[in-house]
Amino acid sequence: MTAEDHVQQAWDTASHAWVEFVRTGKDYTRDGLNNPATFELIGNVEDLVVLDLACGEGYNTRILAREGAMVTGVDFSESMIDAARAEEETEPLGIHYHILDATALNGLTDNYFDLVTCFMSLQDIEDFGNAISEVSRILTPGGRFIFSIPHPCFEKIRLDGKKIDAAQRYFETAKYVIQWNMERLLKPFRTVTFHRPLTDYFEALHRSHLYVSRLVEPRLTEKAYEKYPYLQEALRKPQSIIVESVKSASRSTRTQ
Ligand SMILES: C[S@@+](CC[C@H](N)C(=O)[O-])C[C@H]1O[C@@H](n2cnc3c(N)ncnc32)[C@H](O)[C@@H]1O
Repeated sequence: MTAEDHVQQAWDTASHAWVEFVRTGKDYTRDGLNNPATFELIGNVEDLVVLDLACGEGYNTRILAREGAMVTGVDFSESMIDAARAEEETEPLGIHYHILDATALNGLTDNYFDLVTCFMSLQDIEDFGNAISEVSRILTPGGRFIFSIPHPCFEKIRLDGKKIDAAQRYFETAKYVIQWNMERLLKPFRTVTFHRPLTDYFEALHRSHLYVSRLVEPRLTEKAYEKYPYLQEALRKPQSIIVESVKSASRSTRTQ
């Protein structure tokens, strides 16, 4: 396995260019498509206790805090968390950040969070099943887990050196490198991610007593299309999928 195959190392290396990409409005898919749909699904967060899982440099974590939630952000990339903490110093929002692997949320209390969000990251988490199990542990009974991922039916993946439609090999789990090389980037970078069939995500939720309550396939509005013509494809087919699930109200988790 090369260094580029290592998820955490790749994100640490990418963090500087990623921060610039996200904070300067160059992440059109986030601003034009995913965030409007995800925050609509999330709804009012005032006074909710929220964990933003795999929060990166904290862009969406800050939105949640500005909307009145009490927010904790975790990510396993030290440089991402450094960037998030630096922003918290500049604009204090009361966010607590921790460097934590999503699969071992050590120190986070059982049955504590009203909402766990995971924006466009679950596809990057190698052991996503254990991450979902941890989410279930820390959620309060009746609490929600909302995550977004690239739509596995429509994404493009890189296999055997070629970019192909994932649908061609839909049932395979594929670990592959994304090359971020759009002209608008400060500098190109690479990250490591996974294609998995939707069944894998839904089975993992089911095993952890998280029951799917809503599903959104964000559509580009005409207004957003005027601002982000680059996202044109999303007028016809979804680029991402957003899932809301609820922890069974009768499940109170207790760590042995
Ligand atoms: C595409 S970025 C998204 C970041 C953030 N959620 C956002 O919307 O800006 C994916 C993030 O997942 C994090 N990540 C991947 N695997 C992880 C794991 N096992 N535990 C914690 N964070 C992880 C990476 O470090 C990276 O910051």
